[in-house]
Amino acid sequence: MIIVTSLVYLLAAVLFIIGLKFLSSPRGARRGNWIAAVGMVLAVAWTVVLLGRSFTPVGIAISIVGVMIGAVVGTLSARAVKMTAIPQMIAVFNGVGGGAAAVVAMSELLKLVGQQPNFQIDFPSAFAIIIGGVSFAGSAIAFLKLQELMTGSPVTYPGQQLVNGVLGLLILALAVVLLTVGSSALVVTALMVLALVLGVAFVLPIGGADMPVVISLLNAFTGLAVAASGFVLGNFALIVAGTLVGASGTLLTKLMSDAMGRSLTNILFSAFGQVQVGAGVASGAENRTARSGSSDDLGTMLAYSRSVIIVPGYGLAVAQGQHAVRELADTLEKRGVEVAYAIHPVAGRMPGHMNVLLAEANVPYEQLKEMDEINDEFKRVDVALVVGANDVVNPAARSSPGSPIYGMPILNADQAHNVVFLKRSMRPGFAGIDNDLLYDPKTVMLFGDAKESLTKLVVAIKAA
Ligand code: TAP
Repeated sequence: MIIVTSLVYLLAAVLFIIGLKFLSSPRGARRGNWIAAVGMVLAVAWTVVLLGRSFTPVGIAISIVGVMIGAVVGTLSARAVKMTAIPQMIAVFNGVGGGAAAVVAMSELLKLVGQQPNFQIDFPSAFAIIIGGVSFAGSAIAFLKLQELMTGSPVTYPGQQLVNGVLGLLILALAVVLLTVGSSALVVTALMVLALVLGVAFVLPIGGADMPVVISLLNAFTGLAVAASGFVLGNFALIVAGTLVGASGTLLTKLMSDAMGRSLTNILFSAFGQVQVGAGVASGAENRTARSGSSDDLGTMLAYSRSVIIVPGYGLAVAQGQHAVRELADTLEKRGVEVAYAIHPVAGRMPGHMNVLLAEANVPYEQLKEMDEINDEFKRVDVALVVGANDVVNPAARSSPGSPIYGMPILNADQAHNVVFLKRSMRPGFAGIDNDLLYDPKTVMLFGDAKESLTKLVVAIKAA
């Protein structure tokens, strides 16, 4: 039985790894998801079979009902969720994973109350409770912020870092007591409660728009907590799956913060979104004027161009304009205009946001160009059509050392012969800072909801 169990879990682990590999490109992402899901079904089904050997019939029935409830809730919520709400759904799923790992570890420790300390169980259990508890509570706050059930602004108060530091020290002290004196209901419960409080305290000062990075970090935490609970239970599948989640979550967190041109410490501890909003807006924008155009004029300009690069951003997702942008691209291509999409790694609000959004409208993958691949092309194109994007084309990232986005790699839309912005107003984007490109003489604004503007442009191109 042990050999069969090891083989089944090994197969599940191999499927997870192949799934991850496929997930590294938009083309293979769907297949990767399916492959990893098959691995997960295999691991869960075999675990239920194993439970059958040690559990009473009631215990087995409870496990099966649990799996079914999870499957139904997961399927229904994944089908119902809007694309812009994916980050909060991930926050919920991730938090539940961390919470489960913490509860499993807690129950194992409670079985050992009154016994001599056992480092092999106590250490991974304490680790799973602390990290899993932080991940559960932190993810809950991330969800509330993203769902706008609480303020998305950073919640700060004097001495906050000190309070968090004291919480961390208390947790450490309790873990030492656990490892040296042995398990007790009081210590285990206190450890769990303090981990939950730390999770809340850790995420409160982080702004809502930075939540995707935080969720990715908490995802890595959950992975580590799950791996630790795998050591507690002696479950190989949990150790491998948890380690994969921990490693990929850590890498994703690093990639996201690099693409935003900010360090992880800056994201976690600088209360971004509170200080900069307002500070950047007042950079003299009121004395300048931007040029706005009509959809007819801009449609004619696009229709008679040789090449156009579309820069999609968060506003395209908000407007749900993915089908309209594809129709515009198709209409231009029919007239012989060369069209490509420039995808900035952090355009939108979650990793791969634009890829997923445009894939929904069946935009051919060959047209999606990553930043490094397309940045040199901008100087040759007639029009850069910026649809609901702002920060990812803000030249301040190159030229203003004081700017909060200074150092963030940007798309070179400012080098195109003409720039057209589709947005509703002159308001800034997520970083809250003014964008000089909006006032550039070669820029024309088409104000309005992105989807409506795109539809009007299609009509105008067809009429040109
Ligand atoms: P933003 O800089 O946030 O700009 C989006 C623009 O879309 C806004 O200026 C807004 O202007 C416009 N907009 C909103 N709704 C619209 C609608 N219905 N129709 C037309 N326009 C609309 O977006 P971006 O350029 O995609 O940059 C992403 C930002 O998010 C970066 O600063 C990035 O660091 C941050 N971020 C990204 C991630 C990931 S992983 N993608 C994670 C965390 C943070 P109006 O209000 O005037 O319409």
